Amino acid sequence: MVIIAPSILAADFSCLRDQVQAAEIVGAHWFHVDIMDGHFVPNLTFGPHIVEAMRKITSKQLDVHLMINNPDDHLAAFAKAGANRITVHAEVTPHLHKTISSIRELGVKPGVALNPATSASAIEEIIPDIDLVLAMTVNPGFGGQLLIQNVMPKVSRIRAMIASTGRQLHVQVDGGVDVDTVAMVVDAGADVLVAGSSVFGAPDIGEAYLALERTANF
Ligand code: DX5
Ligand code: ZN
Repeated sequence: MVIIAPSILAADFSCLRDQVQAAEIVGAHWFHVDIMDGHFVPNLTFGPHIVEAMRKITSKQLDVHLMINNPDDHLAAFAKAGANRITVHAEVTPHLHKTISSIRELGVKPGVALNPATSASAIEEIIPDIDLVLAMTVNPGFGGQLLIQNVMPKVSRIRAMIASTGRQLHVQVDGGVDVDTVAMVVDAGADVLVAGSSVFGAPDIGEAYLALERTANF
């Protein structure tokens, strides 16, 4: 079953609870939380406080995507706030094994994200230690961008690398996922699809979520 993970980056924060519940009521069980620091990516979003607020709104999986330069300094705060999963970028994490171990020690499931131009080989040696690989399908920083189709072969390479280890990891894609691109990312091997604008930017959040889920699992 392919999972749709709505990204609250595209939600209306003046009524976050209503928006999250609109997705939850039709079956959403992962919520993606995009943390941006204005350094690793040009945009700024929010920090552990929003994760804490989300934890009060929902008991579902909180999937925290750290687009920040010094993830090690903030892991404990995000774990304490209620993150179930924390994904860090390989590009800013020189001691990846150490960072992943810290996430695990905090009782949180670790993931590693790769920008579009970062090779799949960056995660090869860490596969035994993580639960999820995130292949960015846009350059991180903003919602509402077009999916970069040239990332698809990499998604397939990541899926094959994981399969050869015999481990069960999620392969997540993030950026530009909508009803028109869902089939492509699922065919490439993704099983967790982050969707911001195509869920929270839609006039009917529940309908939009279901349309994506149906298309992904056709
Ligand atoms: C981009 C973020 C994404 C973003 C996706 O930097 O990591 O999670 O919310 O947004 P859409 O689905 O609108 O492309
Ligand atoms: Zn994200």
